[in-house]
Amino acid sequence: MAVATKRVFNFSAGPGVLPAPVLEKAQQDLLDWNGCGMSVMELSHRGKDFLQIAERTEADFRALCGIPSNYKVLFLQGGASLQFTMLAKNLLGSGTADYIVTGSWGEKAVQAGALEGNVKTAWSGKEHKFDRVPDLASLDYTPNSSYLHVTTNETIQGVDFLADPSLNQTVVCDMSSCIASRPFDVTKYAMVYAGAQKNLGPAGCTIVILREDLLDRVPSGLPPMLDYKVQAENDSMYNTPPTWSMYMCGLVFRHWIDFGGLEAVAKNNEVKAKVIYDAIDNSSGFYRGHAQKEARSLMNIAFTLADDSLTDKFVSEAKAEGMMELKGHRSVGGCRASTYNAFPIEGCRVLADFMSTFRQKNG
Ligand SMILES: Cc1ncc(COP(=O)(O)O)c(C=O)c1O
Repeated sequence: MAVATKRVFNFSAGPGVLPAPVLEKAQQDLLDWNGCGMSVMELSHRGKDFLQIAERTEADFRALCGIPSNYKVLFLQGGASLQFTMLAKNLLGSGTADYIVTGSWGEKAVQAGALEGNVKTAWSGKEHKFDRVPDLASLDYTPNSSYLHVTTNETIQGVDFLADPSLNQTVVCDMSSCIASRPFDVTKYAMVYAGAQKNLGPAGCTIVILREDLLDRVPSGLPPMLDYKVQAENDSMYNTPPTWSMYMCGLVFRHWIDFGGLEAVAKNNEVKAKVIYDAIDNSSGFYRGHAQKEARSLMNIAFTLADDSLTDKFVSEAKAEGMMELKGHRSVGGCRASTYNAFPIEGCRVLADFMSTFRQKNG
């Protein structure tokens, strides 16, 4: 018997909301992909059907993000968290790497890097509760550092650089929570990585964009699964890749290409975030944004209520009205509304209206 589908407004920071047409397409294909009589989940990763899916997924990702041919695109596993370790194992060598720490994920990245060799925190926003980003061009870096690590958008604190860095450095970037939310210039980075489960697809797949010359640095003797060279030489198929997640990412890439590409995605995201930031700014201090205005994330809107004793009530009343996962991360408190690419503008309007009504009742 068919069950009526009820979709809520899912403000989760990740795994995040996926485009409904993508889920519908996956549902259609679930038992029989393209008339082959098998689900994508059942296809051999070495067979021609899956290879066709993998090729199209990569080609669409390259087209969507404008990735030049001298960059490899790898589809790995282990999440962005494994990349914290893997990038250091591959790229740090005997030198020193600089880290810019603008939030909790940057902290984790530098901690993982420290287990592999010499790392230095070139800037940290910790004393300001991670509410801002630095001017990268004005910082002092280690001469000839192995790389400079940045986290474009800090998912927990909701702070974002909002622009690509223009630096004479080997910039390695965790873009997990804002990749493909706006156009970005890949050539400003030596490497970009992102877990899929926010803007790209379901959990299970981690995408690495790596400039080819970096492969020359990879030391010999790494465990093969942690070796970028091995992964690149085997087209991400040294072992069984995350086939279902890759297929789903492919559907998501096609969806946003058809939507008009990253320019159109960015415009949509700006409008969406503004609806919620306006509700914060027009609340006479009832709601307070965590990030400084010039570093406000368009993906993760972290805010507190001036009277924190109302936070649980806010979250539970919102939930009763179909707005889920609004509780902030325990390290920041308050609330967080994640408005990833697939989050609908109606959900932002419904939240803004709710915020206004809640304030009138409780202010
Ligand atoms: C910016 C950022 N980096 C890294 C991670 C860790 O990702 P994963 O859970 O895929 O290891 C997250 C997860 O939320 C994140 O938001």
